Amino acid sequence: MRNSPSSKHLHIYTIGTVAALAGFLFGFDTGIISGAQEYIFKTFELPETLTTYMAALKGFVVAAVPLGALLGAIFSGWFAEKLGRRKSILFTSLLFMAGALLTSFAGILDHVVWGRLLMGIAIGISAMVAPMYLSEISPPKIRGTTVTFFQLAITMGLMAAFIANYVCANLIEDHTMNWRWMFGLGAIPAFGLLIGMISMPESPRWLFANGASSKARDTLRYLYDTAHIEKEADDIQQSLNRTEGSWKDCFTAKIFPLLLMAFGLFVLQQLSGINAIMYYGPSVFEQAGFGASGKLLAQIAIGVVNVSMTILSLSLIDRLGRRPLLFTGFIGMCVCLVAVGLSLQAEGATALSPWISLASTLAFIGFFAVSLGPVPYLIMSEVFPLKVRSAGMAIASCANWGFNMLVTESFPILQQGIGMTPTFLFFAFWTAIGIFFTWRFVPETKNRKLEAIEANLYAGQPLRKLGNDVFAPITTDELEEAEAALADVN
Ligand code: BGC
Repeated sequence: MRNSPSSKHLHIYTIGTVAALAGFLFGFDTGIISGAQEYIFKTFELPETLTTYMAALKGFVVAAVPLGALLGAIFSGWFAEKLGRRKSILFTSLLFMAGALLTSFAGILDHVVWGRLLMGIAIGISAMVAPMYLSEISPPKIRGTTVTFFQLAITMGLMAAFIANYVCANLIEDHTMNWRWMFGLGAIPAFGLLIGMISMPESPRWLFANGASSKARDTLRYLYDTAHIEKEADDIQQSLNRTEGSWKDCFTAKIFPLLLMAFGLFVLQQLSGINAIMYYGPSVFEQAGFGASGKLLAQIAIGVVNVSMTILSLSLIDRLGRRPLLFTGFIGMCVCLVAVGLSLQAEGATALSPWISLASTLAFIGFFAVSLGPVPYLIMSEVFPLKVRSAGMAIASCANWGFNMLVTESFPILQQGIGMTPTFLFFAFWTAIGIFFTWRFVPETKNRKLEAIEANLYAGQPLRKLGNDVFAPITTDELEEAEAALADVN
């Protein structure tokens, strides 16, 4: 391991890029269904008439990934603790590959569902473990940026999927084959993740927690400037000494409010309806008036805006902070969702309507991507004390996938039952709730050490103020320094 200070951030960004491949796969494997579903249903001869039963069945083929991810999220805490962050991510790369291949070679619809369940499990584990790993290897100044790498990778995966959909649908005329290529392509980044993670270091925090102090120090030497290593090691040890952690601790008076806040952010993320667009965009655009090719192109535009605005969020998240982004995002999304809903009303449609639908959907995606996309992942990786971090993040991830599944499964049913306009107004309602939620519950954590946030928690600071200036001395050295300074003054 090299040791020059100038190379430290480069090391972290390299690890960040490899681990974020898991995010790319998350995006690719969730997004690919938006273009593939139509051909899968044709291949396996599901009728086009949308009875409630058929809507539910089709919804299930789409929702198999979030369902698998919910299962993965439930066990993700166990994986992160027992296998370690690095090996857990390695394990998911194998699942990603198996899922992509099984779906691609499916002989019956059940194989598609099983393959998608496997991909889902991989996503559920890695969507919790990878941000945790990224957050644990990063110094506070760039932590927001590295963890947001993960979100950026999700959006790139989604965009790649939308492009793959368009290309395969146009190049491969045989509709029983084109969707197989769409899914099969996902095996390539999965292989990249496997190869890349083999040479990545384990999280120093996990190593300390598992008694491998000397290995942990080696890793710290690789990641941090020499001057900071002892302090960093000391801080981690202190936070490990503080409490014994278990699942039950998530329900204590101190931790439970954190859990509710992280859980709530994911519930709001999903109830914004983001995945109604990500997974069903082409059918929304069809209703808006776009043709067969136009609807897939519109979906690519969604992918491009999602990536670009996430890149913008990378530079804003550690400068402006988490709360201002959330406020702006929720307000913007609310207005746009009302516009999308109204533009999809069949009566009163004009030649302009499809473009108004597209423009307001793109603006919605833009507001989501700078705020509610990255912030919940970042906050959940920051607020939980080390001892309950895995359990807390796993529970919060369950909210993400549980509600993702709910929205994904019910969207075709709602579309068929109450129609598009009320459905989008329902999503708008939840973004309005998000404004209040942020104001009342979300702390500002920018530029704070994870251990400082933790010290605030144990010093009794309320939830909203966890990111405030450190309240209690966090290391023995600091305490001694403070006492010495006091003695000098006296
Ligand atoms: C969400 C996903 C969503 C993606 C879109 C993520 O933050 O968790 O459900 O598909 O953003 O970019």
